[in-house]
Amino acid sequence: MAKWLENAIFYEIYPQSFNDTNGDGIGDFQGIIEKLDYIKDTGFNAIWMNPCFDSPFGDAGYDVRDYKKTAARYGTNEDLKRLFDECHKRDMHILLDLVPGHTSVEHEWFKKSMLPEINEYTDRYIWTNNIWEQPEGLNCIRGISDRDGSAAVNFFSSQPALNYGYAQPKFAYQQKPTDPGPMSTRAAIKDVMKFWLDMGCDGFRVDMAGSLVKCDPEYKETIKLWQDITGYLKSEYPEAAMVSEWGEPQYSLAGGFDMDFLLHFGPEGYNSMFRCAEPFFSKRGKGTPKIFAEQYIANYEKAKAGGGLICIPSGNHDMDRLARGRDWDELKCCFAFLLTMPGAPFVYYGDEIGMNYVEGLTSVEGGYNRTGSRTPMQWDSTANDGFSSADKTQLYIKQDDSPDRPTVEKQKLDTDSLYNEIIKLIKLRNENTALHNLSEFEFVSYDGYPLVYRRKSAEQELLICINPCGDDKSFTDNEELGEIVYSLGENAAVSGRTVNIPASGAVFVSIKNK
Ligand code: GLC
Repeated sequence: MAKWLENAIFYEIYPQSFNDTNGDGIGDFQGIIEKLDYIKDTGFNAIWMNPCFDSPFGDAGYDVRDYKKTAARYGTNEDLKRLFDECHKRDMHILLDLVPGHTSVEHEWFKKSMLPEINEYTDRYIWTNNIWEQPEGLNCIRGISDRDGSAAVNFFSSQPALNYGYAQPKFAYQQKPTDPGPMSTRAAIKDVMKFWLDMGCDGFRVDMAGSLVKCDPEYKETIKLWQDITGYLKSEYPEAAMVSEWGEPQYSLAGGFDMDFLLHFGPEGYNSMFRCAEPFFSKRGKGTPKIFAEQYIANYEKAKAGGGLICIPSGNHDMDRLARGRDWDELKCCFAFLLTMPGAPFVYYGDEIGMNYVEGLTSVEGGYNRTGSRTPMQWDSTANDGFSSADKTQLYIKQDDSPDRPTVEKQKLDTDSLYNEIIKLIKLRNENTALHNLSEFEFVSYDGYPLVYRRKSAEQELLICINPCGDDKSFTDNEELGEIVYSLGENAAVSGRTVNIPASGAVFVSIKNK
């Protein structure tokens, strides 16, 4: 694993909505460059940026038209290189978003693949052998080419699936992962990765990483495929990082990924903490961390054995904002947890100031219900909250206009704000080796409130108690407790082996003599 991941704290940037410097209503690379000091000062030392490649934007850029060219609206390849360089100057790292599973229908590869004459791209995508045949287990595009066949799609109908083969081919059109077509797709994706790594990017977040080989329920062939790609990468670029959007670390880490996310899809543990009818992080106190904890333990052991990390994101461009239906106390509690768990933390832009999910928006660029989590960043009290000088009506997505919406400026000034709490928590994480990404972790109590776990390094051991519910709680440990190193809420106290954790609060205590 790349050394820098050991203390990486990530900030996810959705480039469309971050900072617009040329007044066209949409964010750009220069806008990100101008905010790097803000990102760094908040405590982040790594960035994941959503796709920024040439695209017709039917799915916000996850429908790539040219893998090696940036979308003009963000800037040129040279501008992106400048962004890499500016990150490195500040000792920061940046991951691009790699979309290996599908392209846009407008990609040159697909246009050539649609031709009836056999050519280099005939097998780049999954095509059935005649128009009336449907690809197994997938939707398809049909009737748009002279080629007699149906092309499988991976996500929206404008996103044809690249051909990495089928785990166990059953029908004539299905190829093995090692057949020439799938192997040339694989080589093409390696070539794309090489292109950006040579330009200075530090690795990739990989979109739908578990979906490449089709009809592969146990992911055996998908894992083999990734082992090949990550193996190549590690030999050529040992400091490059690979993070998968897979949501099942037992598979992704076996494929050689350094990190995987817990997500809103896949096993339900992540949602049970943050996004369900009665989440654990709620003053109502009707949730439990149990489902999460049981799944996490199993995966944590596997991740540790494989030398990988599990990341628990605050949110992302596909989920409801963390702040939806949550008050400031609850949000602070969420971050006390997110910033003390092992694995690299990932904070979605705007979550550090508690940006709202904007209700009732019309879909923009294939966002649908996700659009409300993708609204322009709120910086200050100038026009469009400092996001853009464009006319309000020209903004990429309508901005939150609720009178009490947070901005960076307001939150910086308020000593009691979520933003200032996050700064404090990140500082604490950096200063306490027990809280580092790879330091040891063990659950102590996870049946209801509070959630209690230990973090440990060679130098220190900390007991972390998190109590989002509306009542004070106490917890008695089997070790003699030391000093409180952090507390959230009123009246946190330790006496002997017992900790009092305030309502909607958290207490981190050192273990004596450790
Ligand atoms: C991933 C992306 C999502 C996109 C989809 C298809 O889940 O995060 O935004 O729509 O893949 O590429």
